[in-house]
Amino acid sequence: MTDSRHRLLVASNRGPVTFRVADGGEFVARRGGGGLVTALSGLARHHAVTWISHVMGEGDEAMSDSVEGGAFEEHARGGATYRLRLVGRADRTYDRHYLEIANPLLWFLQHRLYGFGWDPTIDRATHAAWECYRSVNERIADALVDELAKATDDDGEAPFVMVHDYHTFLVPGMLRRRLEADGLPEADHPFVQFFLHIPWPDPGAWRALPRGWARDVCESLLACDVIGFQTPRDAENFLRTVHHFLGASVEFRTGAIRYMGSLTRVRTYPISVAVDEFEEHAASATVARLRNRIAAMRPQTPEGDGKLIVRVDRTDPSKNIVRGFRAYALLLEEHPELHGRVSMFCQLDPSRQDITAYIDYLAQVKAAATEVNHRFSTPTWTPLHVNLDSNFQAGVAAYVEYDVLFVNPVADGMNLVSKEGPLVNDRDGVVVLSDQAGSFNELGPHVVSVNPFDISQQAGALLEALRMPSEERRERAIALRRQVTDNDVVDWMAAQLDDITALRSGEPLVVR
Ligand code: G6P
Repeated sequence: MTDSRHRLLVASNRGPVTFRVADGGEFVARRGGGGLVTALSGLARHHAVTWISHVMGEGDEAMSDSVEGGAFEEHARGGATYRLRLVGRADRTYDRHYLEIANPLLWFLQHRLYGFGWDPTIDRATHAAWECYRSVNERIADALVDELAKATDDDGEAPFVMVHDYHTFLVPGMLRRRLEADGLPEADHPFVQFFLHIPWPDPGAWRALPRGWARDVCESLLACDVIGFQTPRDAENFLRTVHHFLGASVEFRTGAIRYMGSLTRVRTYPISVAVDEFEEHAASATVARLRNRIAAMRPQTPEGDGKLIVRVDRTDPSKNIVRGFRAYALLLEEHPELHGRVSMFCQLDPSRQDITAYIDYLAQVKAAATEVNHRFSTPTWTPLHVNLDSNFQAGVAAYVEYDVLFVNPVADGMNLVSKEGPLVNDRDGVVVLSDQAGSFNELGPHVVSVNPFDISQQAGALLEALRMPSEERRERAIALRRQVTDNDVVDWMAAQLDDITALRSGEPLVVR
């Protein structure tokens, strides 16, 4: 496996930190959230990284304006440094890209959250917003061209370009066109890889978009040398989609796609956790303090067998929090013997609160939580505790403390919660996991599986997890932990770099 240091040019919508200007005028950095940032933040320890991301607000904009070329050195945890370049403005164009196209349209479509009888409706405003999506992709492509020119001037060989996620679908195509227009011979083009963190649904879902948009997305992605997906199902759906929309010639066995004289490989790289970094978080004093608070929510029983169910999520409809609460309520309704012996703690990050669907969903989450407590609370027992804020450390503390980790998304690219939890849990906790999470592919044999749509089955799965004998809990917890430590984020990146190295030297790819 590759262990050398590579030069990487990473591009994504959200960067690893966002800035705000404090009262004294100094910049205060705050760690970004979500799976992509969590996974990529560990990269700087092992590779020379320049990370291009879009400004997220006025603080980022001021930071970007205060340094030459919008780029500066940032420290990753553990002392490593990387170059961060913030591009664009926090303007209306960006808002429309993020709030109207990337979220909810692409996110909802790719997680199959739409009921097609009602949504989406594509109107003039959506068409105008698509132009904003394009413009924001141009901003990132421009910065990539610029950074490539700088890096190539320095020592001749271009770094690998890695473009991430659904906000930037059009970037690879724009990049290629720009390099062609600059007259760069094909042989000198950088190696370009795209990685998609979220699901790629079947061609039928993409038909909801105007045909030209779906074709543009597919064509742009086929400007890459490699496209990485989280699971084989996503990869297969992609092959079917480019065949459907572009008539590209696809080989399902090898993942090779031939289109307009170019060859693109589709590969599967399940993303994972930065193990060392995560273990450091779990061992921190802040987490220890929060842990005591969370442990106090576990009911005290004379036998000492009180149990704590935990969930850690963004308040996103794909995460299925409302059905999760209904399943818990059903469990309590059917099993009065659990009253006062089990509680649930939820650390929920109120996500994307500028988007109506997310505002509505958060309201539904709150109402469903209130209903559970209203129905079942007693003077000495609160069945459900909900902490609504983006407190990363409280999430980690909850991971350490769970007896049962409840992860029931209706669709999820990977779901890092289901990997982070078992890595640091201290109590041989059981994971109850949706069979629609990408991580189910790897963790399936060691979890209690759930159908995210079936509330009664979820209630049964929670019961099974709560009653599981200690030896079985232990065996499963060890297996889950081993699965994560044996396949961490360093392995995830190494697999991609091995493939790049093999493809550049004409060697066959390792079968995965
Ligand atoms: C998912 C996506 C990321 C995104 C994150 C948080 O993990 O794959 O690209 O950054 O959610 O969402 P946000 O809209 O806050 O960036």
